[in-house]
Amino acid sequence: MLEHNELKGLPGLGPAPPTLDCMDVKQGIRRNFARRARSYDRHAEMQRRMAHGLVAAVGESLARAGRILEIGCGTGYLTHLLRQANGEARLVALDLDAALVAAARRRLGPEAGVSWLVADGETPLRGEYDLIIANATFQWFTRPGETLAAYYRSLAPGGVLAFSTLGPQTFRELAEALNRAARSLNLPTTPPIPAQGFGDRETWSDRLYRAGFRQARLTREMATASFPSVKEFLKALQATGATNPRPCPFSPRLLTALIEAYQTNYARDGAIPVSYDMIWAVAEKS
Ligand SMILES: C[S@@+](CC[C@H](N)C(=O)[O-])C[C@H]1O[C@@H](n2cnc3c(N)ncnc32)[C@H](O)[C@@H]1O
Repeated sequence: MLEHNELKGLPGLGPAPPTLDCMDVKQGIRRNFARRARSYDRHAEMQRRMAHGLVAAVGESLARAGRILEIGCGTGYLTHLLRQANGEARLVALDLDAALVAAARRRLGPEAGVSWLVADGETPLRGEYDLIIANATFQWFTRPGETLAAYYRSLAPGGVLAFSTLGPQTFRELAEALNRAARSLNLPTTPPIPAQGFGDRETWSDRLYRAGFRQARLTREMATASFPSVKEFLKALQATGATNPRPCPFSPRLLTALIEAYQTNYARDGAIPVSYDMIWAVAEKS
């Protein structure tokens, strides 16, 4: 069984916060990912898949871009793909956290000629870009509408905004098992899972339109990962930092009930499925 203190920061396991303070949430996101800078790459298989899908979706715009800005570079997996695809562009990569930027810088090395920044991608940007790109990051934005509008303004005419993100069906088995567990224990509230609040394809399409983008292509794919046990999944989730930015105490009783509900309702052939709701968007400033 997972220990109680192993659970701090698991995906939304805890009562809904009474008020949502964006700064606290942002600090929580930064802290979660920073703590996992060393373990992230071992467990980020789906994020890598999303990065390759993103590069394929951007197509020729990537090779043509002279100025590229990457938001939420993390440990630099996408940054490396961007550099491989376009060795000439002026490439700026930023992340909320210094430890992640340092890991990305190590991955690419000084000869890659990337300008690294520790910054919040939701604060006003300087400069003009041909391509603004982000992999598996926008689901953590606290002001997505305003931020997309700022990106629109920072793009050169004909410039492209491209991102992949996770939708609300991500970890749907976990959400469902948690509901069952809470009901079985007669808990008055169901602990929230951040993924349930992520925007779906229609929401992102609408946000892009409101931000000024008139041409956008959005695609969605459901993918299923397989883990030997619920505990292994929860540990892997924790190792990527994709957990609740505002962790709340979570009782061992609820954890046991959650594992049992997940196992009973979903386990097949000695493995449990985990859903990922993947969305890719490519929008052009006409
Ligand atoms: C799931 S990781 C993805 C990392 C990387 N893009 C990849 O594909 O491996 C999400 C990253 O977004 C960063 N992030 C989240 N919100 C951010 C923000 N507002 N500004 C900059 N980076 C942010 C996190 O620190 C984390 O490194």
